[in-house]
Amino acid sequence: MTFSALDTPAPQCYIRRMSNGDLIAEIARLKKERNAIILAHSYQRPEIQDIADFVGDSLALARAAQSARCDVIVFCGVHFMAETACILNPTRTVLLPDADAACSLEASCPAQDLAAFLEREKEKNYFVVAYVNCSIGVKALADVIVTSGNAERIVSAAPADRPILFVPDQNLGAWTAAKTGRPMTLWNGACHVHQLFTRDTLLSMKEKYPNAKIVCHPECAEPIRLLADHICSTEKMIPYCREAEATQFIIVTETGILHRLRKLVPDKEFIPVQLGTCSCAECEFMKLNTLEKIRNCLRDMAPEVRVPEDLRLRAAAPLERMLELSK
Ligand code: 13P
Ligand code: SF4
Repeated sequence: MTFSALDTPAPQCYIRRMSNGDLIAEIARLKKERNAIILAHSYQRPEIQDIADFVGDSLALARAAQSARCDVIVFCGVHFMAETACILNPTRTVLLPDADAACSLEASCPAQDLAAFLEREKEKNYFVVAYVNCSIGVKALADVIVTSGNAERIVSAAPADRPILFVPDQNLGAWTAAKTGRPMTLWNGACHVHQLFTRDTLLSMKEKYPNAKIVCHPECAEPIRLLADHICSTEKMIPYCREAEATQFIIVTETGILHRLRKLVPDKEFIPVQLGTCSCAECEFMKLNTLEKIRNCLRDMAPEVRVPEDLRLRAAAPLERMLELSK
């Protein structure tokens, strides 16, 4: 029996996917061609953090985006972060490798619901503090923006004669109210990843690692926060763990930060908080970005994040107020 060339199936090796090494080289070439930088949040995949020009928490990323002098910002994070970059640095092209990278916390506070609430409660004259994990529409309705890294400082500076409405994260809001002694009306929002942690799991981990310190993000609910030795933003976990006497830490937030902690504090041990049935906490939105999608977005200059100019101007004011107050 004979085979013609058409009968012969293509050997698998001809259709293999590019290796990470090939992708990284192509990204470097495209970055140069486009005069681009890559900003990455600490929850991004390790291989993305490793090729980023800058890795940080929401506050550090907002500052980096504002001062970026390149033509293109590839924002490896979720949509509201890329949108914040557009608001703060409108003359750059901002690319988000996966346009579906959303945020459950942002989704828990639609701008029209907040606008309707503020209209209903007009006589209260709320001072609106918005966690940066929200849409441009919500930012435009806020008096000031906060991140988990500066919420305490910014809320302490809020006018004493006005009641505070904190949106959208009730957990960060409650933690900030306790830290500052400023009572607040809290929006009923939360992050679905940080809501997954349970006291039982954390208590059994503490039993297994009795010398470990529990470090938790303020997006966690109060029963979890009460078990923590230290509560802080992802960025502040690094100096805390470096400077603490302890050598073992149970990290209660999205697992991406463990890559940074292990890289920057190599002599200590970091244990991700366990979940009931699955092994660790991953934000599926954060993990949508991949090296391949970064290559594609630089090649195609899409998906691009754009914002309407009138809304941008309204959202820029409370964001710039935040950056000014947290200098
Ligand atoms: P920070 O980066 O400010 O710690 O916030 C974490 C977060 O949930 C980002 O979505
Ligand atoms: Fe949003 Fe939670 Fe994911 Fe952070 S971890 S991006 S708050 S869904």
